[in-house]
Amino acid sequence: MCGIIGILGKKNNVVPNVLEGLRLLEYRGYDSAGIAVLDDQGRISRLRSSGKLTALEGRLRETPLSGRAAIGHTRWATHGAATEANAHPHMTERAAMVHNGIIENYQELKAGLEAQGHVFESQTDSEVAVRLVSQGLSEGKSPEEATREALLRLEGAFALVFLFAGEPDLLIGARRGSPLAIGYGPTGACLGSDALAVGPLSDRISYLDDDDWVVVRGGEAVIRNRAGDRVGRPVKRLDPSLRFNLGKSGYQHYMQKEIFEQPQVTGDTLKTLLEPSGGRLTLPEDLPFRVSDAERLNVVACGTSFYAAMVGKYWIEALARLPVDVDVASEFRYRDPVLAPKGVSVFISQSGETADTLAALRYCRERGQKTLGIVNVKDSSIDRESDGSLLTMAGPEFGVASTKSFTAQLTLLAALAINIASERGLLATGEEARLIRLLLEVPAMMAEILSRSEEIALVSRDILAGSRDALFLGRGPGYPLALEGALKLKEITYIHAEGYAAGEIKHGPIALVDKDVPVVVLAPTDALFPKIASNLEEVRAREGRIVFVGDQKGLEKVGKGLAAGLVIPPVDPFVVPLIYAIPVQLLAYHTAVFKGTDADQPRNLAKSVTVE
Ligand code: F6R
Repeated sequence: MCGIIGILGKKNNVVPNVLEGLRLLEYRGYDSAGIAVLDDQGRISRLRSSGKLTALEGRLRETPLSGRAAIGHTRWATHGAATEANAHPHMTERAAMVHNGIIENYQELKAGLEAQGHVFESQTDSEVAVRLVSQGLSEGKSPEEATREALLRLEGAFALVFLFAGEPDLLIGARRGSPLAIGYGPTGACLGSDALAVGPLSDRISYLDDDDWVVVRGGEAVIRNRAGDRVGRPVKRLDPSLRFNLGKSGYQHYMQKEIFEQPQVTGDTLKTLLEPSGGRLTLPEDLPFRVSDAERLNVVACGTSFYAAMVGKYWIEALARLPVDVDVASEFRYRDPVLAPKGVSVFISQSGETADTLAALRYCRERGQKTLGIVNVKDSSIDRESDGSLLTMAGPEFGVASTKSFTAQLTLLAALAINIASERGLLATGEEARLIRLLLEVPAMMAEILSRSEEIALVSRDILAGSRDALFLGRGPGYPLALEGALKLKEITYIHAEGYAAGEIKHGPIALVDKDVPVVVLAPTDALFPKIASNLEEVRAREGRIVFVGDQKGLEKVGKGLAAGLVIPPVDPFVVPLIYAIPVQLLAYHTAVFKGTDADQPRNLAKSVTVE
């Protein structure tokens, strides 16, 4: 979702740095981009373009801009189409501004400003913020006063950065709801949406809290709270790994690279909870409560992270006999959920910034729940606001479609299930060690499937790429995996795809099956194999084009007449979700490549969904 960067250079032209920052924010998903620069005369110049950054760079080649102070933005449209006029920065003669979030009372503010003579140039909610500040400036207020007063009038969620005409050494940023970071480095302080954006110029980072605003001047950043009091926020060293390995390392797409990183990510994530002896999985010592003491767990997440939560429910209930409720975050707090007294609520999010998941976390905290985040981005809002966190070791994920962060989340959930079951005394002697061994074997099995990526590509080419609709079926933990397979396929290839619990197809979806509809059946040989084999027969009887994903033994049992059979090594049922995630992701990825759709930045999607 929208990305923000603001840079002050001591002597040098910062336009290339702003463009680099925008490039690093591309992964968030966007549909237009822009930059505003203060020239040597202290005037603001701006260039914007709909579409990708290359379009903005083309505009900059035609009309070069340079200056020592600049702000940049990648916009993911909410209010108003993805046109140049709606792209940020928005500006007046006095100030320019970039915004991430939604200003909910913009219509009322707009009417007031129009009455004062302001003529709006865009359909966005954002433009009111720069006009409010400009109004204050025109009344003789200082940039600080004008900004502070404007902030007090805004309702909704925002991260904002302002640049002021005639002020080459000043940026003002503010945050409520949407993240904003301050990077500190040899050239001073800069502002950006995340650690990646400020990374190239910074070795330390701090994050604004809600209702903080920051004045960057003379190489320093002064943070104040809503009341105007100066406040300090923790400054941490920036993880140096952020600067490494950001390229595609020879892969065609980030998504492909990230799929192939999964063996390593799974191993790294598992290691964070594995005792040095290798025989026990323990949660971090600083976790202020024992998850195993809970009588009930709530797990809340969105999208792919929600499907990970669903798999987690199967594992935790089966192994630890602890009831687990899973909820889509956007529904959770609006349905007035019944929360177990002193219960534990878990929030799963790759970005750690998803607005609905964060709001659900705050909702639970206000109601006395103990909170546990499972996040990939350290120091993200969900990490900071949870009582404790488990970190997935996926590293930066640039493909908009989650892949390695999904399996890293699964790894932690599997480990959590084992840990709770063990602490509750529910694992027979040797069982904990057996389950851990199975998890330790996962990276090698993933690698084996990855080595057969080209074989999977043929199924994508011959069966999926030409189809309009597809179904994914699974049972047990294979059901959320079927949902995830359908989500991956639809989001990056635009093929309409649905995932179902295989037993449900008779209750409606089987009406869709005919000789043109591929049906991907996830069929490991576990206790439910005979059931899913019957569901497969039901599809076969309607001439559906079955793509069987299972092991050799299963394939032999279901016999001939399949459109394709993807043979996976036999695996213990416990690790099926981790292993079967790989073919499901590769099917979607290769289909996107054959269709020519953008696997890394699918249309309309954002990586970090920071608005409700
Ligand atoms: C799909 C995908 C999304 C995210 C969802 C939640 O491939 O990536 O469905 O899983 O937007 O994002 P996080 O995990 O950052 O909260």
